[in-house]
Amino acid sequence: MTDLHDAPPRDWATEFDHTKEDYAADAPAVWAELRDRCPVAHSDAHGGVWLPTRHEDIAAIAHDTEHFSSEGVIVNIFKPEGLAPMGYAPPITSDPPFHADARRLMLPAFGPKAIAELEEGTRESCRQLLDELLADVTGPDDIVDAATQYAQHIPVRVIADMLGLPKEDGPRFRDFIHRIIEKPGEYSGTLGVEDTLLFYLTNVIVERRNGPPTDDLIGYLLQAEMDGEPLTNEHIFGTIALLIIAGIDTTWSAIGASLWHLAQHPEDRKRLAEDPDVLVFAVEEFLRFYAPVTMARIAAVDTEIGGCPVAERDWVLLPFPAANRDPEAFERADEFVIDRQRNRHLAFGLGIHRCLGSNLARLELTVAVDEWMKRIPDFELADPATVRWSTGQVRGPRELPVRILKTVEA
Ligand code: HEM
Repeated sequence: MTDLHDAPPRDWATEFDHTKEDYAADAPAVWAELRDRCPVAHSDAHGGVWLPTRHEDIAAIAHDTEHFSSEGVIVNIFKPEGLAPMGYAPPITSDPPFHADARRLMLPAFGPKAIAELEEGTRESCRQLLDELLADVTGPDDIVDAATQYAQHIPVRVIADMLGLPKEDGPRFRDFIHRIIEKPGEYSGTLGVEDTLLFYLTNVIVERRNGPPTDDLIGYLLQAEMDGEPLTNEHIFGTIALLIIAGIDTTWSAIGASLWHLAQHPEDRKRLAEDPDVLVFAVEEFLRFYAPVTMARIAAVDTEIGGCPVAERDWVLLPFPAANRDPEAFERADEFVIDRQRNRHLAFGLGIHRCLGSNLARLELTVAVDEWMKRIPDFELADPATVRWSTGQVRGPRELPVRILKTVEA
């Protein structure tokens, strides 16, 4: 039997596949090798895809909406066509000029003031999860899963609340996301219609249209207008789907990766405990060092990346995490510096599509780490071999067993 370690090594310059375990296991090493040897790599996986790894090239593509379209942002053998300028999940899949109006609609719900109001509820939710998680811990050395028992629940609860959907549907959201982001294309044709996000959200929208107006994001979208017209069903559906997909796996990954780091670095745990003011810098460094999100584009015309010719309709991955590790852009790029002062990372992307949920993501990450450290100031990985990282365009630990070394009463 061949396992990961027996398999012949890939030539990352021509055979990378971001949906495979070997890439996910140590992606930063793959980017570092490519940056030196072949900074714009190409693989035949998924019908052909480009992988730039330099900060300069990644930033240039993100700013260049003329040559690179967002009609497709998740690399898949089925390439979206004819959906621009709105795309299937506005505003992330929208191109100018549609994009600006679709994004503007969403700004009030994600501005700093609206998000600050969610802090107390998010803290309460984290404390509740920690109570539940610690209820089964009978003594030192007990093991809990920081990803499945803690990190994954935090963004689900927040976004379900914002949309006005039942928190109990959380596991269904995670199934939808797993199929769409982690294993794109793998489930097509194998699912019953009732197992799809399309079926779930279509029912939600019909129910809401037939019921009284609600004071949540779905209610807001049902009443919103663009150019004096109500939003189309496709627009409403796409935006709700986007918020579920963009809001959950991303933040779950960032919280999980931060706890994975702290589990292995006692000096950083100590620093956070002794100097709480460092948390604001630590959060930015977690985002830089463990940036979870790689996006994609489709070349709108024949073009080039860093001198490499790219053909119209080619897929291009946009690995913001690789940009964050580029030594040309960051001093000591491959070191985690908990109090890094200058940190203009690209974890939230840049240009017109820069993350709309960044205030919310920062709030959730800050609160999740803060509340964990207050109750569980000392912990370590139970066994590094049992940690499982996701594959695909959102990277983070999906199983994270940790041994509790010290707890503090609530
Ligand atoms: C740590 C967590 C997160 C990270 C690292 C992250 C990262 C990103 C990135 C890199 C983009 C740019 C996409 C592109 O250029 O194509 C983006 C866009 C977006 N994100 Fe986030 N995100 C996070 C959390 C969230 C949350 C919690 C929400 C909302 C619930 C959200 C909503 C969005 C939306 C709506 C867009 C599209 C913006 C546009 O196209 O104008 N994100 N995010």
